[in-house]
Amino acid sequence: MSATTGATVYDDFFEKTALPDKFEEKKSEIEKFITLHKADNRRVVLVTSGGTTVPLESRTVRFIDNFSIGTRGSASAEYFLDHDYAVIFLHRQRSLLPFHRHIQHNILDCLTIMKDETATSLLSILQRYHDAQSKQRLLPVSFTSLGDYLHMLRAVCMLLQPLGCQAMLYLAAAVSDFYIPSNMMLSLQLVPKMLTPLVKDWTPQAFVISFKLETDKSILIRKARKALEEYQHKVVVANVLDTRKTEVVLVTNDSEEPIRLTQEEVANGTEIEEKLIQTLSSHHSKFCASQEQS
Ligand code: PMT
Repeated sequence: MSATTGATVYDDFFEKTALPDKFEEKKSEIEKFITLHKADNRRVVLVTSGGTTVPLESRTVRFIDNFSIGTRGSASAEYFLDHDYAVIFLHRQRSLLPFHRHIQHNILDCLTIMKDETATSLLSILQRYHDAQSKQRLLPVSFTSLGDYLHMLRAVCMLLQPLGCQAMLYLAAAVSDFYIPSNMMLSLQLVPKMLTPLVKDWTPQAFVISFKLETDKSILIRKARKALEEYQHKVVVANVLDTRKTEVVLVTNDSEEPIRLTQEEVANGTEIEEKLIQTLSSHHSKFCASQEQS
């Protein structure tokens, strides 16, 4: 990291990183979306999803990529809509999208629907999709590089400020720890942890949820607690790479709440995000109630 300290480390990163294409247009679309839902007193969640890329050269042919295709984020967005949130879906371009994800993998099967039960479940997805579209509840915003992601993240957080505790941030994207400052030789630098300015300055009243991903279960909870202490946000969703689809732990300052799928639920296709979002939505309601009382 550069010699700069405190807030300037973050400014330094943003100064060295180009703005995303159509940045102002995207911002004004997001602002309109937030204003629309603020008028209805609706909760708005920013869901981040998919992995960031780090370009190795300015005319990008080669880049460092990340494993995530956005399963967690796209599924979660659907369940937030079911819980009456308006959703800003900040996702990696060409990663999984809410609703579309159900047919992206098996488009041929979907076109030749043979089993009634498949048709019924697709019809219900179509219904939820149309509902979200017609009520303008879902706003997809795409990114590709780490720089684009962080510029958009900061912009959305600032735009969410007027919502106070009604805003939720659900940071499920898999974010690179390194970047290559422009105009420099190939040298990787550590990306400053943006959760610090995000919680303190960008959107101090929102209900912020970060994720902690580890491959070693034995250090997971300790790392999640360390993140809570360091960034002072509300919840860490702790997950292990190999078991992330069936088990997560919600870690707060005073609790540890495992959320698991039973074998039966796995067999009938229940998604862990359904249970996770239900729990988080209720934590968010309690948080807002406590803010309104104080
Ligand atoms: O997409 P799937 O295949 O379904 O996988 C889902 C997932 C495993 C990617 C998801 O559940 C998950 O764990 N996402 C977070 C992965 C991650 O980036 O973890 P981390 O330990 O590197 O970062 C922890 C937190 O710090 C993240 O919430 C991130 O938003 C934040 N961060 C990261 C880098 C950075 N420079 N600044 C940050 O604030």
